[in-house]
Amino acid sequence: MTAEYKINRHTYDVLVIGAGGAGLRATFGMALEGLKTACVTKVFPTRSHTVAAQGGVAAALANMGEDKWQWHFYDTVKGSDWLGDQDAIAYMCREAIPAVIELEHYGVPFSRNEKGQIYQRPFGGMTKNFGEGGPAQRTCAAADRTGHAMLHTLYQQALRHNAQFFIEYFATDLLMTDDGRCVGALALDLQTGELHIFNAQITVLATGGYGRAWFSCTSAHTCTGDGDGMVLRAGLALQDMEFTQFHPTGIYGSGCLMTEGCRGEGGYLTNSEGERFMERYAPSAKDLASRDVVSRSMTMEIREGRGVGKNKDHIHLHLEHLGADTIQEKLPGIAETAKIFAGVDVTKEPAPVLPTVHYNMGGIPTNYHGEVVQLKDGNPDYVVPGLMAIGEAACVSVHGANRLGSNSLLDLVVFGRAAALRAREVVKRDSKPEAIPEAAIEKALNRFNKVHHARGTTSTAEIRLAMQKTMQTHAAVYRTSESLVEGVNKMKEIYPQFENVKIADESLQWNSDLTETFELANLLACAQVSITAAENRHESRGGHAHENYPDRDDANWMKHTLTWLSDDGKVTIDYRPVHSFTGTDEVEYVKPKKRVY
Ligand code: FUM
Repeated sequence: MTAEYKINRHTYDVLVIGAGGAGLRATFGMALEGLKTACVTKVFPTRSHTVAAQGGVAAALANMGEDKWQWHFYDTVKGSDWLGDQDAIAYMCREAIPAVIELEHYGVPFSRNEKGQIYQRPFGGMTKNFGEGGPAQRTCAAADRTGHAMLHTLYQQALRHNAQFFIEYFATDLLMTDDGRCVGALALDLQTGELHIFNAQITVLATGGYGRAWFSCTSAHTCTGDGDGMVLRAGLALQDMEFTQFHPTGIYGSGCLMTEGCRGEGGYLTNSEGERFMERYAPSAKDLASRDVVSRSMTMEIREGRGVGKNKDHIHLHLEHLGADTIQEKLPGIAETAKIFAGVDVTKEPAPVLPTVHYNMGGIPTNYHGEVVQLKDGNPDYVVPGLMAIGEAACVSVHGANRLGSNSLLDLVVFGRAAALRAREVVKRDSKPEAIPEAAIEKALNRFNKVHHARGTTSTAEIRLAMQKTMQTHAAVYRTSESLVEGVNKMKEIYPQFENVKIADESLQWNSDLTETFELANLLACAQVSITAAENRHESRGGHAHENYPDRDDANWMKHTLTWLSDDGKVTIDYRPVHSFTGTDEVEYVKPKKRVY
């Protein structure tokens, strides 16, 4: 079988998979530490999904009014609906300040305030004085193209520090020892069709989210949960996969993102009666309540017949009153997006918007050093040797049940750097990585070969569409027991169809049919554990709004869900405790209370 494939072998200290913000920050951080580092990425680094991030990166710089990282910490705990680990949140919010200054020094072209400092805008759920002092201007922005600016700068730094890139290589599987140590990964060079076995002391998964499991999302087509899929196939658990974020303002129809910065700059939402309805749902924060709250409010308006448009099925986002100059200066990208994807001139008329899948709070469980952790022999914080995860692929958990806008770009750089700092401690310099067992290579090659030669009767696109429609309908903004059970049952029928998938193209070079089929396997795995975990959680918390259990239930459900997936699609569930300590005396534990905005 293997004679069919040309196989190349590589040895590194560290292998990073993914070249978005987190992957790039980790890659050059590792190189900076003198570690021999390879970065494998399925798209050219500056095309990674981070490029699409718009509104900004949160840090309590206090350039636009008083601010403290402890307030940022409080907001993030509250935003997470008390599912976030408070030690990890404290680490992220404290490190945010040096992380953003570092980005500035690396050359990110941030917008400027009148004093020449980094410009900061208000974002949902970001407040002063532990929620008592009104909105904080904390989100550091490069107009509405912050992710684009950051990604290009981070790639430049990676080139400067001589990290080695394997561009347009698709990683298919982790390579594990029998006793569960990660020793590398198998990847396909999409251009040549050759296979590459990477042997490394540490493998870092920075593969992003799995938004493409839904029919409509703001995520790029490349967001297919590749790292999550690899972890599940390695017999490891994912965490909190039931928590999905709907961004309130995806463009109606296409799902393209209209940044929360629109509302940060003074934009607002109206229903068919022209009413600014957020005043009813969140009297204090209004349109700048956290995303789960705004998305639910919009959904309620539509359900109660106050949606706009012919079918009364969406909401209006107004920017006209800001004036063309402000829009041109602060929000040039979304003006263009609205024109192209909605045919709307936002200086003159409202844009049609709808809550759209945007972010996966769940993912690969890690500690705040980026090390993958699992529940093992009663230890909830067992570190998997040789494996790290960062960025949206990971669940640190700093976002808990709901992420605050602009904490994602922050998470990427803070934990990308943290992983490099940890690698400095654990990599044995001048030592080779542990050898990859032949059985692990054979297992990965057998799976590759099976997918490459899949000649069933159902196309990749057919299975994908069935999954996307199921997730869209049953893992929605609001969920009910009935709808979730139906969704789980549908996924039980869809998941096994992969065994009968048909690949039409035999070749190995630029075979998008083959790549999409590998991606589909990862998406199906994510969708399967996500909907099952959602059906299992009998409460409402953050992004999981369960209509049969409308309240948060801390006594029974303040815990992280762990999900394992067997080869035949069966999901096993267990739990890890939420960290109720901050790990520092610079900030106090925030006790759970009712979450109102
Ligand atoms: O709305 C936005 O600009 C998105 C930001 C984020 O998800 O953090």
